[in-house]
Amino acid sequence: MAGFTVAIDGPAASGKGTLARHIADEYGFHHLDTGLTYRAVAKALLDAGAPLDDESRAAAVAADLDFSGLDRATLSAHGIGEAASRVAVMPQVRAALVEVQRRFAARPPGAVLDGRDIGTVVCPDAPVKLYVTATPEVRARRRFAEIEAAGNGLSYDAVLEDLKKRDARDSARADSPLRPAEDAHLLDTSEMDIEAAFRAAKRLIDAANTDGTRK
Ligand code: C5P
Repeated sequence: MAGFTVAIDGPAASGKGTLARHIADEYGFHHLDTGLTYRAVAKALLDAGAPLDDESRAAAVAADLDFSGLDRATLSAHGIGEAASRVAVMPQVRAALVEVQRRFAARPPGAVLDGRDIGTVVCPDAPVKLYVTATPEVRARRRFAEIEAAGNGLSYDAVLEDLKKRDARDSARADSPLRPAEDAHLLDTSEMDIEAAFRAAKRLIDAANTDGTRK
């Protein structure tokens, strides 16, 4: 029997990844940050000195990607996020990654996936869908704090500009644009801490998950 799936979408630095990890820990579910899969394809192309818009090459990299070896530390660099959003506009890349993401989503006893198109495309039948958002300024402050802690010299203004550019590209693309599923629950974390977001998510999951997979 397929597992219980929690689909989480939202723009960069909205808090969706932290929320997804908390939920996975609480329920003993598997977690996949699907952004890492797009980042890994982009990084492989960058490392090979290949152009980011070579669709058949990028799709071949995506089809060969080892989902068990995704390293958050190397893939989380700010510049890789920008490259990932360029790779993510290509339908052949998306098709290859979505196929594996769907298999991951079915793993028992359950899985939490976060990304941009989980509730709309990857897992449209997920019993719980969350759309996590926050103002661009709040998100840029969060991302800036992470970048500063890592010792990178980017300014807050540059981070805000990059986030807005990435949001625009992710929302405007033709294939699987960033948008909430019609039946997604909206969580605005602009003025909500992670604990409050987690409590709201937990209420929704517990209401939908009545078959005892909960810890
Ligand atoms: O979530 P993260 O910032 O790591 O994602 C990097 C990029 O990967 C996003 O800006 C987006 O273009 C792409 N992405 C996507 N679909 C997903 C997850 C990420 O298009 N499900």
